Amino acid sequence: MQQKIIILDFGSQTTQLIGRRVRELDTFCEIMPYNKFPKDDESVIGVILSGSPYSVHDKEAFKVDLSQFIGRIPVLGICYGAQYISYSNGGKVEAADSREYGRACLEQFDKEDPLFKGFVDKSQVWMSHGDTITAIPEDYKCIASTANVKFAAYASTKQPVWAVQFHPEVFHSLQGTQLLKNFVVDICGSRQDWSADSFVETTVKELKEQLGDDKVILGLSGGVDSSVAAVLLNKAIGKNLTCIFVDHGMLRKNEFRDVMEDYKCLGLNVIGVDASEKFFADLAGVTDPEKKRKIIGRDFVEVFNAEAKKQTGAKWLAQGTIYPDRIESLNITGKVIKSHHNVGGLPKEMNLQLCEPLKWLFKDEVRRVGRSMAMPEHLITRHPFPGPGLAVRILGDITPEKVRILQDADDIYIRGLRDYKVRLSGEDARRVLAAGVPADMQNGEIEVSLYDQIWQAGTVLLSTVRSVGVMGDERTYEHPVALRAVTSTDAMTADWAHLPYDFMAKVSNEIINKVRGVNRVCYDISSKPPATIEWE
Ligand code: XMP
Repeated sequence: MQQKIIILDFGSQTTQLIGRRVRELDTFCEIMPYNKFPKDDESVIGVILSGSPYSVHDKEAFKVDLSQFIGRIPVLGICYGAQYISYSNGGKVEAADSREYGRACLEQFDKEDPLFKGFVDKSQVWMSHGDTITAIPEDYKCIASTANVKFAAYASTKQPVWAVQFHPEVFHSLQGTQLLKNFVVDICGSRQDWSADSFVETTVKELKEQLGDDKVILGLSGGVDSSVAAVLLNKAIGKNLTCIFVDHGMLRKNEFRDVMEDYKCLGLNVIGVDASEKFFADLAGVTDPEKKRKIIGRDFVEVFNAEAKKQTGAKWLAQGTIYPDRIESLNITGKVIKSHHNVGGLPKEMNLQLCEPLKWLFKDEVRRVGRSMAMPEHLITRHPFPGPGLAVRILGDITPEKVRILQDADDIYIRGLRDYKVRLSGEDARRVLAAGVPADMQNGEIEVSLYDQIWQAGTVLLSTVRSVGVMGDERTYEHPVALRAVTSTDAMTADWAHLPYDFMAKVSNEIINKVRGVNRVCYDISSKPPATIEWE
C-alpha cells in the first residue's frame, strides 16, 4: 500500500511548500482541507497541521477534532497548528506584545528529542506569527526556545505529538528539511519509496483497472502536462486512447508540425486538426483582449467537440490537470478562486467521465515522470505556453501576417535562449536542479542553457505602436517587439529574468536584421504582481 502523509490545510500561504518538502523526501502526501481528514484511510502514516491566517481566538478560525488522529498516528503542528493543539488541550495562546516575523535562533533545544536529530546548535528558524503560546497543556514538555519565544517547540510526553511555532518548510529555516525528515522518516516510518518510476508503475496499473477496454479522448496542447498524461495513458491502454491536437494558427513557429512529429515518434494515436482559418476569420478586426480570449476559447471548444464526437463510444475525457491547478482552483472554503485552463465545455450528451492521472503531481514531478518514461528532453523542459497562444502576445487585432512576424522574432529569441550556456553555483544551481533540469555538478558548478534557467519566455508584438528607425539609407516606420523572460516557481508570482547584456545585444541585432516589420527591440522589466506574465 502506498504510504501517505496528510497535510491539513488551515489556509497558510506555505501549505503547498510543506507538501513540496514532504515529496522531496520521496514520500507521497496529500493536502486536504482542515476539516476533511480521511478517517478510515489506513495508508496514512502521519498528519501535519499547517499554519493559518487566523488566530485561534478568531470567531472564523478553522477548528478540527484532533481526536481523529492524536493518539492514533504521529502529528506535527506548525505555527497555527502548534497553537491550536495547545489551545484545544488546555494550554494558552495569547496575542504577542510584538508580532514576530523573520529570522530567529533556537537558543535551546532538547538534543535527545527525535525531532531534532542531527540539529546543530543555535539553528536559524523562520517565524511568522502574531499570537504566542504562553502555556502548554499538561503531559506536554517544552523542547525548544528562542530569545523571544519560550515554547518555540513542544511535544507530548504520552503520545506521538510534536508542535513547532516556526516554519520548517521555508528555505530560511536552515534545518527545516532535517526536521521534516526526522518527523516523516524516523517518527512516521516512511519507507521513502515514492519515486517517478514507482508512480509510473502504480498509475499504469490503476489506469488499466479503471479504464478496462473503455475508449478515452485527450486534448493535447504540446505542453508538458498533457504530453506526459498522454504517454502514461498510452502505456496503460494503447490504441484505446485518441489524442486531439488543435492548431489555432497561433502556435510558435513550426510548433504544430514539430510536436505532431514528436507525438508520432512516441507512438501516440493523434489527430491533428488545422483550424487556423476559422480562428483567424472569427478574430478578424477584434482588438479587445478579453473578447479575443473568449472567441478563442469558444472556437477551441467547438473544434475539439466536433472532433471528439467523431470518436464514437468514447467514455472518458483525460486531462493533464496537475496539483497546483487544483489547489489554485479551490481554496479551503471550497470557493473557486481561479478556474484552470484545461479543455472545458464538452457537450453533456457525450456523457464523458473525467480521468486526470497527474492530479496529485507538482510540475517538476510531472517532468520527472516524463523522464522516467524516456520522453524527449525538449518536450519535458518546454516552457509553459498559454492556451490562446500568440494571440495574447499581439496587441491589437490579429492577422496571419502579424503572427508570422511574431513567430519569426520569437523563434530567434527562443533559439538564442537554448543556445546560450551559463554556469551556475550555490543556490542558483540548487534551484535549477530541484526543478528537475538534468545537469552534472562539477567543482560545485553546473552548466545549463538560459532557457532551462528561466520559467518562461516569449516575445510580444506591439503592433499598435510604430516608431521611426533607419536601415541603410532608408527611413523605417515599423513595430517594436518586447522580449519577456521571467523566473518563477508556479506562475502566481514572477520576477523578470536578469538576462546577460551580450545575449540581449545579439538577439536584438538578429531580430532587427532578419525579421521584416520589426525595427526596435525592448526588454520587459516588470515583475508579477503588479504586471502579469502575458501582456493580454
Ligand atoms: P499571467 O499572464 O496571468 O499568466 O501572469 C500566468 C501563467 O498562465 C499562463 N496563461 C495561460 N495558460 N490559458 C493557458 O493555458 C490561458 O488563457 C492563459 N493565460 C495565461 C501564462 O503563460 C503563465 O504561464
